[in-house]
Amino acid sequence: MHRMLCLLALIIAVAIAPQVQASTSKAKAAAKLKEPVASIFASPVEVKAGRAIAEQTCARCHGLDGLSVEADVPHLASQHADYLYAQLIAYKDGARKHTRMRQSIKMLNDDALRNVAAYYFSLDLPHTAGPQQGAGADARPASAYDVNPEEAGKEASTGCASCHGKDGNSALPGMPSLAGQNLQYLLNAIKAYQTASRKDAMMRPAVALLNDDTIENLALYYALQTPKASPMNAEGDAAAGEPVATACAECHGADGNSTKPDTPSLAGQDPRYLATATHAYKDGARDHSAMQSIVASLNDEDIKNVAAYYSASPPQGGAARKPLTTAQWSERCDRCHGIDGNSTDPQIPSISSQGEEYLTKALTAYREQDRGNKVMRAMLNPIKDVEIENLARHYAGKRRKSVVFVRVPCK
Ligand code: HEC
Ligand code: HEC
Ligand code: HEC
Ligand code: HEC
Repeated sequence: MHRMLCLLALIIAVAIAPQVQASTSKAKAAAKLKEPVASIFASPVEVKAGRAIAEQTCARCHGLDGLSVEADVPHLASQHADYLYAQLIAYKDGARKHTRMRQSIKMLNDDALRNVAAYYFSLDLPHTAGPQQGAGADARPASAYDVNPEEAGKEASTGCASCHGKDGNSALPGMPSLAGQNLQYLLNAIKAYQTASRKDAMMRPAVALLNDDTIENLALYYALQTPKASPMNAEGDAAAGEPVATACAECHGADGNSTKPDTPSLAGQDPRYLATATHAYKDGARDHSAMQSIVASLNDEDIKNVAAYYSASPPQGGAARKPLTTAQWSERCDRCHGIDGNSTDPQIPSISSQGEEYLTKALTAYREQDRGNKVMRAMLNPIKDVEIENLARHYAGKRRKSVVFVRVPCK
């Protein structure tokens, strides 16, 4: 039977310290130390030995009460002993990198590490305390921090609507539609106008003053809108354009709906715009080596016809995903870290009431792969800075509930 089934975790919300289990004999205590979940069942003697080490070595940073005294130092009070021990080993063998931590523990032997982990686990993390402003200080609902990027993009798009249409479906001849376009392509295009690597007298002033956040919101807003087929009549012959389009399918999709993030979809686009853009590559006004070499051999008829072909193809859109709200994110985190970040798994840390700054640092370290953990890396790929900040604030504001682990007989 799996060892986890022989453990029962009880959460106690009352303000008493969780009592570590007393061992019955020395022999049992020694045997326990070899189990992977040994530290949470440390004896009072071991906890006392751990306290002495904490006082001597750890307290100046982590506090003797397990409340850290610096913003980038984690609170240790009530954190699962087995998690703490595993982290100490990780610092010691270099898997987790931090010079000050490594220096602090390099002289400690295995028993000392287990005992000091057991000591910090035995302490409560009070709801409002600590230098980090966050240990339970702010318990607003997660939604209070969320900025809805799609809404923000919609607001910013009012300045674009006169040309591109309210929902990004343009009704002016020769004007590109943006609705349902690939997100990455939209981002690149707006930035290209801003840096003037793509030149257009109307676009330059429209985007000159946008900051990066606004550009991201705008691109997301348009990418999420449902594209409509262009109402404009094409000059060319769509049927004659079909064979020309075989040379384009590899990148733009056979029906003009591209699945490559940096390649625009052409399906349903305004036919005059498609033709103008293709000419722009051909005569070098628009710079892109792949496009330039492909369209070099097309004559004016080919260009009109292929534009008619793509413009008549139904646009799909729908590839862009809305980013998760903090509530949606934290629902995923809670599956492992427990309700409101109170973990009942001895190897998964509680993250409730942990300092906001430390949580931000830890999450960023996983994302940047500075801290190695497959599960956490996969979880956070991709995540934006603002989402990390919101999650850190969310969990810093949650009350820590101490956990007692109880042995139950294995069947
Ligand atoms: C000089 C200050 C300092 C001292 C002394 C110190 N630590 Fe730390 N400790 C830190 C910092 C800073 C971090 C966060 C490092 C990081 O980001 O990886 C940390 C992280 C930890 C962690 C990881 C916690 C988590 O939530 O992942 C544990 C466990 C820990 N320390 C235990 C100890 C113990 C036990 C001692 C004493 C034997 C000790 N530390 C001494 C500064 C210190
Ligand atoms: C005055 C009219 C006008 C306004 C206002 C305007 N645009 Fe444009 N936009 C254009 C024209 C014209 C083009 C095509 C330019 C070209 O050929 O490169 C274009 C092209 C684009 C493209 C590239 C489309 C593609 O398929 O490559 C994007 C993206 C874009 N605009 C976004 C915006 C955003 C975002 C705003 C508002 C902040 C905006 N535009 C405001 C006229 C306008
Ligand atoms: C090797 C891949 C590739 C092939 C093949 C290709 N394209 Fe493109 N195309 C691109 C990329 C990438 C862009 C965006 C370039 C940029 O950022 O300016 C683009 C842009 C365009 C645009 C501008 C769309 C807009 O919204 O501004 C048009 C029009 C276009 N291609 C037409 C064609 C046609 C017609 C063919 C076939 C004759 C073709 N392309 C073949 C990669 C390709
Ligand atoms: C599949 C299980 C799982 C999920 C889902 C998960 N985590 Fe974790 N998390 C872990 C494990 C295991 C660790 C310990 C990793 C290590 O040893 O570095 C961890 C570590 C952490 C830490 C470091 C704690 C400390 O004290 O240093 C933070 C912070 C964290 N997770 C936050 C989150 C957030 C926020 C989410 C949701 C976006 C999340 N986790 C989702 C399993 C998970």
